[in-house]
Amino acid sequence: MKKLLLLGDIHANYPALKAIDNYIHPDGFDLIINTGDFTVYSTFPNETIQWFRERKKTICILGNTDRRILRILKGKKLRKPKKQEKRIMYFWTSENLLPKNAAYLKSLPAQNDFIIDSIHIGLFHGTREDADEELFPNAPESRFQKLAKGSPYHVQIMGHSHVPYHKIVEGVHFINPGSVGRMFDGDPRASFAILKISAGTIAVEHFRISYPVEAVVKDLKIHQLPDVYSKMFQKGKKLN
Ligand SMILES: [Fe+2]
Repeated sequence: MKKLLLLGDIHANYPALKAIDNYIHPDGFDLIINTGDFTVYSTFPNETIQWFRERKKTICILGNTDRRILRILKGKKLRKPKKQEKRIMYFWTSENLLPKNAAYLKSLPAQNDFIIDSIHIGLFHGTREDADEELFPNAPESRFQKLAKGSPYHVQIMGHSHVPYHKIVEGVHFINPGSVGRMFDGDPRASFAILKISAGTIAVEHFRISYPVEAVVKDLKIHQLPDVYSKMFQKGKKLN
């Protein structure tokens, strides 16, 4: 049996990642997967990236926030997001990211795929057709069918919507582990999933665990960053 830890949309919320680390002991997994968005909206991008850099058995991809950070670091203009409070968070992150962690981000692909015990797994931030697509579990069945058909993958792991789910359409498993650091459903607890593969069978279990949100709030205040993010993490809701 192979055991994969599915993480994603951490958004620099290291206290949430650390809580998962303490809860499940990641060394017991064959692989640790990250669907992207390591960075932005909390103040621990370095600790978050370092956590992955210190581990050997990881497969990670970039999310939209990470791609934007890399664009800023290249000296390109940031057209989106337009909201000033969001832009502050992007520029704060790019200014505070250590070069070795920026280099790690730069080394990551936008999507990836791998085979475990003959099961072909695709890893995407949005979907296999569009890295910026938010695929919610209540999307039309036809959308899932289109993504399932003509793809070599038995399993498609995605992030970006921040909504945890596991759906089987046309025999293809669509899995979103939810967001470790920035859930939007009014429950601030960290979300993640465990994928077990054994003799061709696939089992998925989702988890929600609490973490010290106040550690995030305290650090946002220390760095005098917009108050809306403190409220966002406390409420577990998208506020801007
Ligand atoms: Fe995200």
